[in-house]
Amino acid sequence: MAAVTADQTTQSTSGTAKAAGRAAGTAPDAADAARLAVFEAAVAADDRIEPRDWMPEAYRATLVRQMAQHAHSEIIGMQPEANWITRAPSLRRKAILMAKVQDEAGHGLYLYSAAETLGTSREELLDKLHAGRQRYSSIFNYPTLTWADVGAIGWLVDGAAITNQVPLCRCSYGPYARAMVRICKEESFHQRQGYELLLALSRGTEAQHAMAQDAVDRWWWPSLMMFGPPDDASSHSEQSMAWKIKRHSNDELRQRFVDICVPQAEALGLTLPDPDLRWNEERGQHDFGAIDWTEFQEVLKGNGPCNEQRITQRRRAHEEGAWVRDAAAAYAAKHTTPSTRTAQPAQHVEETA
Ligand SMILES: [Fe+2]
Ligand SMILES: [Fe+2]
Repeated sequence: MAAVTADQTTQSTSGTAKAAGRAAGTAPDAADAARLAVFEAAVAADDRIEPRDWMPEAYRATLVRQMAQHAHSEIIGMQPEANWITRAPSLRRKAILMAKVQDEAGHGLYLYSAAETLGTSREELLDKLHAGRQRYSSIFNYPTLTWADVGAIGWLVDGAAITNQVPLCRCSYGPYARAMVRICKEESFHQRQGYELLLALSRGTEAQHAMAQDAVDRWWWPSLMMFGPPDDASSHSEQSMAWKIKRHSNDELRQRFVDICVPQAEALGLTLPDPDLRWNEERGQHDFGAIDWTEFQEVLKGNGPCNEQRITQRRRAHEEGAWVRDAAAAYAAKHTTPSTRTAQPAQHVEETA
């Protein structure tokens, strides 16, 4: 891993030079053109691009941005649900929720590791998150007001995540695609636990049913916003699709999600809060109401209900965890023999930490 990272730094530098050359209007030299042709042929043939392969600098930068945002979302997303672990209504529910929140930490770990294959480091990415220079999904800036919110998050937020992420298992960048396979399996469990929780509430007392409905009313629209801006306003989509990082447009995935949720809401005995939601026979899909993109933009700008709380808590957790990282590094250094220190330091740290 460490050797790959070092190689990537070299490749990254040469990639930057090429990007700069192109930006300045100079023609790429023959070697550049040949490497680009190999890259483009691999993408066209649905081959995977691996860390040691040459790649355009913009491809690398796009992946780092997307994977970092994804990793940050996984770990920030632990907060709204962890808020309910101590108040889960039974031992069974508590055990399920703890397992789910722990899974999200694991997802963050896979994704930071996958991002590191592109020549960045987890420390660097976390620093950018804490400084507000990289984003996480806006959905986690909404509060979890009742126990039913845990169900609505599982059903809708993890459900939207699956819809977004299943196509990423075929992403052109190998480490990202492979990380997504396991993540999607776990997200599937998350979605089902949320659905089952809401079903129990929906079939419970009148007050429990009302609590479930209220949670769905609050989480439905933010979940639709998780797919990102409409296609005509999405700045990154077209290039990402050409590179096969992304396989479907934001609007396609959003439509797929709506079509999946409508029958599930019926089975739950809950109503989706959209008076314009109806089956369109001609399109063979559901029509749905207009999304309030002003709200989306406001949350994105930092003005959501919990933006400040989430990032403050994340910074505090990072500072309070410094001694654990220091201890792990000291332990690894103490148990690293000279031969392993030069050969495989990163692997040895993992084995001994
Ligand atoms: Fe996750
Ligand atoms: Fe999840």
